[in-house]
Amino acid sequence: MSETFDAVDVIRTKRDRGALSDAQIDWVIDAYTRGSVAEEQMAALAMAILLNGMTRREIARWTDAMIRSGRRLDLTGLTRPTADKHSTGGVGDKITLPLTPLVASFGVAVPQLSGRGLGHTGGTLDKLESIPGWRAELTTAELRRQLDDVGAAICAAGDDLAPADKKLYALRDVTGTVESIPLIASSIMSKKIAEGTSALVLDVKVGSGAFMATRAEATELARTMVDLGTDAGVTTVALLTDMDTPLGRTVGNALEVREALEVLAGGGPTDVVDLTCALADEMLTAAGRDGHEVRAALSDGRAMDRWRAMITAQHGDPDAPLPTARVTHTITATERGVLQTLDARAVGVAAWRLGAGRARKEDAVHPAAGIELHAKPGDPVTVGAPLLTLHTDEPQRFERALAALDSAWRIGPDASTPRPLIIDRIA
Ligand code: URA
Repeated sequence: MSETFDAVDVIRTKRDRGALSDAQIDWVIDAYTRGSVAEEQMAALAMAILLNGMTRREIARWTDAMIRSGRRLDLTGLTRPTADKHSTGGVGDKITLPLTPLVASFGVAVPQLSGRGLGHTGGTLDKLESIPGWRAELTTAELRRQLDDVGAAICAAGDDLAPADKKLYALRDVTGTVESIPLIASSIMSKKIAEGTSALVLDVKVGSGAFMATRAEATELARTMVDLGTDAGVTTVALLTDMDTPLGRTVGNALEVREALEVLAGGGPTDVVDLTCALADEMLTAAGRDGHEVRAALSDGRAMDRWRAMITAQHGDPDAPLPTARVTHTITATERGVLQTLDARAVGVAAWRLGAGRARKEDAVHPAAGIELHAKPGDPVTVGAPLLTLHTDEPQRFERALAALDSAWRIGPDASTPRPLIIDRIA
């Protein structure tokens, strides 16, 4: 088949800081999905985009072309309004677990199409798969039925949802081209727009454990995604939230499910509860539901009831014991003072080395592996007090996990002023 453009010309345009035309973008995404633009050509183009950026028009067209590479889910005709949340990924970020049933308990349907983890941040599906029997795959008909009956579903995105992004994301992962704002924004928003939600709240992480280390970069990413969503007719809001230190007190799949259950039972760590409630408020407002009292739905069991229904609908047993690790190792403080910092990335890498994450997408995760945090920045510590407990099924993993934690925390005479959990709101 003769092609409309030459891939090398498209690469040269971006290499020389030009703007790609709509026709070039449509062609390159389609031809790459079909396999007639080679992986090395797309890798060169992705690097040129990383180095030279894209205009707002180019980003919008690139996103739209990726949506058109697959099928758009049709969620019209549901009995409830829809709202979804997406986090750019962080360490200990289990917020989707309590948030989805919490929002559903107010009569808003949450179609949470999620992924598995790669690298040091965990994937929501990996966490839920630590629940015996739970199944991530739902057909579109099953998803619609569950959204009507239960109001909440967390499931795997089908292969036909933005397939161009699936291919491109895997390529970016191995070519040093993940950290490009136009490519991250279009990757996330193509999937969220194709999923068919009418309201979307973005949790854009800032800090050592996030893609975006600085507030300025995170603001630009949030602005780009909010504009893409709004232009596509999706009510979109972003919160910028801290990811210098892990969220909550657990990192790792089953450990995080346990913590999510504490939140759904009306307890749990303050930061996890506060962020869950802030995002729930935003989702309900974006879906047109006013006058909600989200904290009450955590303490009076309404959100927990919805969780149980959601897990059961996907063949999970909400009462089954969660897996526990074969061995643990506790690190204690060697000085007295206040824990000043605990680095999110180091904890994420250590949990990953204990078996909580995967290095290649075909690897299996160890559901019980991970890290418990006994102290958070701002907490006083004494000599010998436990700081972290490492959980794994394979004791030979401790050595490399401990190496990742080598200079992961600082204890000082007094508390340093922590950054607020919610740094900004962009609408
Ligand atoms: N998550 C995505 O889905 N895509 C990116 O590019 C980065 C994070």
